[in-house]
Amino acid sequence: MQDHFGRRIDYLRISVTDKCNLRCKYCMPPGGVELIPHEEVLSLEELARVTGIMAGLGIRNVRFTGGEPLVRKNLVRLIEAVHEMEGIQEIALTTNGVLLEEQLPALLQAGLTAVNISLDTINPRIFQEITGVDACEKVLSAIEKSAASGIRTKINCVPCREWNEGELAEVAGLARQLPVDVRFIELMPVGCGRQFHGIPTGEVLERLAARYGTARPLADGVKRGNGPAQYYEFDDFIGKIGFISPMSHKFCGECNRIRLTAEGRLKLCLQYNTGVELKPLLRHGASDEEIRAAVLEAVEQKPMHHDFEQTAEAGSAQDSDSRKMVQIGG
Ligand code: GTP
Ligand code: 5AD
Ligand code: SF4
Repeated sequence: MQDHFGRRIDYLRISVTDKCNLRCKYCMPPGGVELIPHEEVLSLEELARVTGIMAGLGIRNVRFTGGEPLVRKNLVRLIEAVHEMEGIQEIALTTNGVLLEEQLPALLQAGLTAVNISLDTINPRIFQEITGVDACEKVLSAIEKSAASGIRTKINCVPCREWNEGELAEVAGLARQLPVDVRFIELMPVGCGRQFHGIPTGEVLERLAARYGTARPLADGVKRGNGPAQYYEFDDFIGKIGFISPMSHKFCGECNRIRLTAEGRLKLCLQYNTGVELKPLLRHGASDEEIRAAVLEAVEQKPMHHDFEQTAEAGSAQDSDSRKMVQIGG
């Protein structure tokens, strides 16, 4: 399917829960978020039905996010179902890694093809400061196991003045020791992210060059996944270093994705509220054809680009999503 600007939409990010077992300061407010009542969250069967309809419309890549997707019971069953769907080429997961090691064998068996693990520091004390939980060693161990299993493994790190400015080269160093890519993501002014100060890609690159020598950009168009990251290589590194730079290098022109929230809203842009509620259709007897039509109509309305620059400056852009990142899933 294509949107109004001719962008090909083949990537669906599904937030399977708004619950999370960490409390990252830039993602979740200190008191947590009000959780969606259980009955308002789409069931695994409903998620599978929507995904099947989307596969019929041209979705090729599915990514499960949260909250923390691995706290959703029986996620493996959904992965198995999606794995069976015609047209689906990649089934990926974005996780904080805390529960990954114990679930990895079942996830691989079910057909997972890639995993992105969030890790902002390799220092256990700073990890606890950021996330509120002492789980750094657990996540590092999950990263090693994931890399060793052969599944495509990436690490997501959000550089922030407030806590990991001095840690970035250490996190990047994981790509020297292990077959993993490490990506640095510019902090976006979403929810609690507005209170902190991200570090722009250019500066992170300089910091890494000071430690590891000059980085060579991979040739344009060399893809290592389906996302907007730009990749570089350093001498003696096994994995690549990627940058996701929504603030300094807007990539909306190549946007290929839509999002399904845990309560069944099809969201057309990370920033905006615009979209369509699929749950009433799912729960009131709509046919597949009716759901398909609703999806196509919504995709036509996909905004051209985000306006985070304005949000960052002016407080809140009109019709920006008031949800926190933990409810959107990145
Ligand atoms: P691959 O490159 O295929 O591994 O996937 P990805 O980078 O799309 O997935 P991941 O969930 O790891 O995304 C990393 C982060 O990039 C997200 O958590 C967001 O912070 C950011 N991101 C992903 N998609 C978008 C997008 O459409 N717009 C913006 N502004 N940021 C995004
Ligand atoms: N800006 C950029 N990335 C964010 N994440 C959470 N909040 C933000 C934000 N405001 C990242 C997490 C995780 C992914 C799901 O989203 O670090 O890697
Ligand atoms: Fe941290 Fe991800 Fe949980 Fe947000 S959803 S609190 S970034 S682990």
